[in-house]
Amino acid sequence: MRVGMLTGGGDCPGLNAVIRAIVRKGCFHYQDQFVGFLEGWRGLLEDKTMPLDLSSVGGILPRGGTILRTSRTNPAKHGDGLDKCVAAIKKYELDALIAIGGDDTLSVAQKLHERKVKVVGVPKTIDNDLAGTDYCFGFDTAVNVATSAIDRVHTTAEAHNRVMVVEVMGRDSGWIAIYSGIAGGADVILIPETPFDIEKVAETIRLRHARGRYFSIVVAAEGAKFATDVDTQRGEAVVQDLGRDEFGHVRLGGIGNVLAREIEKRTGFETRSVVLGHIQRGGSPSAFDRVLATRYGIGAIDMVHRGEFGCMAALRGNKIISVPLLDAIAKNRTVDQELIDVAYGILDKLTREKEKEPVEK
Ligand code: F6P
Repeated sequence: MRVGMLTGGGDCPGLNAVIRAIVRKGCFHYQDQFVGFLEGWRGLLEDKTMPLDLSSVGGILPRGGTILRTSRTNPAKHGDGLDKCVAAIKKYELDALIAIGGDDTLSVAQKLHERKVKVVGVPKTIDNDLAGTDYCFGFDTAVNVATSAIDRVHTTAEAHNRVMVVEVMGRDSGWIAIYSGIAGGADVILIPETPFDIEKVAETIRLRHARGRYFSIVVAAEGAKFATDVDTQRGEAVVQDLGRDEFGHVRLGGIGNVLAREIEKRTGFETRSVVLGHIQRGGSPSAFDRVLATRYGIGAIDMVHRGEFGCMAALRGNKIISVPLLDAIAKNRTVDQELIDVAYGILDKLTREKEKEPVEK
């Protein structure tokens, strides 16, 4: 078969491992030929391609980024962009297209599927918020980066009697924040799913310090929201830039600084913030992500040969299965209540008792 491939959206450790697995299984077991579209959907719109064969995927397994490069191009925002994608697939006489991406990239894949394109998806995002799968590759690496950053921040917080706020990625879901917060022993974890009361955050830190601790660690997802925003009074996420990308997303970022300012003001404890940003997305994938990405790649090319189009390779209960793209893009996968309970369960008892006190009337 002739198979096209692209990587779209924010990059993610493990993309190269997926590409390598698809090409190797395709060449060794199915005698497939591949065309790589460059820079996500832009490659189909602007006819940017590269040959993909065994030699082009040599040595890429441990490499971060993607040899196909990526972009947040949305063909639906480029006039007859979707028709151009269909035309590109015809031009290269492709029997199938594998789209590796998050909900934005896969929503375009679904639109093309509705236009009879034989498409298969692979779930990619460090945010881990795609529905239909238990884990996206890249997430484990991001959590490891964030956890080791929190460990480092811990020692400097302790040395200076400071509160340190660590801002991690997570636009709509707080998976990185809750995993790295639990793994790094954070005292407060703030996630987009549950808007927080800044006064309660300050009180938690005050109570901890009243018990004799002299430093605290706060982990906040970039998309965490003040129940009532301190600046806007509207309870929205803190943004860097109000301009929107082609999928309608604003640029988040800055909540760490706002939190540090508010915590210091309300507690009197010296507070600093650290923004981990794209460091979480760069570099070599963890062993877990290399294996998961390889499993997804093998799953995707097998799905192509079984004719399971309009579907995405997914991990459920440690098995690779196939789920409809529609299920994957229908909604954001938010943090499980069980994990929230775990994070809450390790908060100090005094803090919990204080939070549970009945409100005086
Ligand atoms: O890919 C998801 C994500 O990592 C979000 O957590 C973050 O808001 C966004 O990408 C940042 O994207 P960009 O690379 O466009 O700055």
